[in-house]
Amino acid sequence: MTKTVLITGGGSGIGRATALEAARRGWAVAILDRDAGSAERAADEALLAGAREVWSATSDVTNERELVDAFRAANTALGPVDAVAASAGIELNSPLAQMSLDTWRRVLDVNLTGTFLTVRTAARVLQDAGRPGSLVCVSSPSAFVGFAGGSNSAYGASKGGVSAFVRAAAIDLAPHGIRVNAVVPGATDTPMLYFGLDGEALETERARLRDAAARQIPLGRMADPVEVARAALWLLSDEASYVTGSHLVCDGGLMAKSANDF
Ligand SMILES: NC(=O)c1ccc[n+]([C@@H]2O[C@H](COP(=O)([O-])OP(=O)(O)OC[C@H]3O[C@@H](n4cnc5c(N)ncnc54)[C@H](O)[C@@H]3O)[C@@H](O)[C@H]2O)c1
Repeated sequence: MTKTVLITGGGSGIGRATALEAARRGWAVAILDRDAGSAERAADEALLAGAREVWSATSDVTNERELVDAFRAANTALGPVDAVAASAGIELNSPLAQMSLDTWRRVLDVNLTGTFLTVRTAARVLQDAGRPGSLVCVSSPSAFVGFAGGSNSAYGASKGGVSAFVRAAAIDLAPHGIRVNAVVPGATDTPMLYFGLDGEALETERARLRDAAARQIPLGRMADPVEVARAALWLLSDEASYVTGSHLVCDGGLMAKSANDF
């Protein structure tokens, strides 16, 4: 059955891929992003890819008012939203002793509080309408294991929070027929990995990541965003009707492998 999906952070990377994959299945797609241009571009692409209908808006997931207004407007434009992917996120890394309180707060605010506000808004809209729904949040291996390179305590804490939140939210919302799950992407080739880089620095980082993925990830490469999108779409679909409070790991085997070679 086709659905109407709302995607935060839908203008880029995993969110954009989720929008396009939903579109290919004929779903109606609402795209929110704090970046207006990328939300509009992704909506145009989704329409070309076969979406039943598209709608987009500029919305910052840390701004409660903007988010509530966007959900209402999406419901009016497309009909009842019954699937939500909370993909908006940022990664700001710094060694712990040098990490500023501002950086810590910003990462927690977007990744964890933004996910809470998205899920709470969706839950209120669905409960008010007495409708079931399916929500997917985006966690990370850093919720479960430390990154060998370090420097990601804020990001890891935010994603650990998302994973705990998903389990708790699933229990609260189950009586209302609302499922809440997480997808856990490993290294995924999106603009997030190259934040602030261009020209030669971008190419050097690309080559470094490709090489690191070949050596460290059992499947020997990073994920294409569409591979993560398909996992998210499965959780959002009725195929996953008995799945809630779960994590679907999509990391090429990264977490299955011990870092020790001996
Ligand atoms: N790329 C990876 O390797 C990877 C791995 C694990 C988890 N993730 C998670 O996947 C999700 C998507 O990341 P991505 O890799 O596609 O990154 P991305 O940078 O390509 O996309 C993130 C999108 O979120 C939007 N965004 C950021 N802050 C926002 C805010 N406050 N309000 C609304 N939109 C906002 C950005 O404008 C961007 O369009 C994030 O939650 C990220 O933490 C990514």
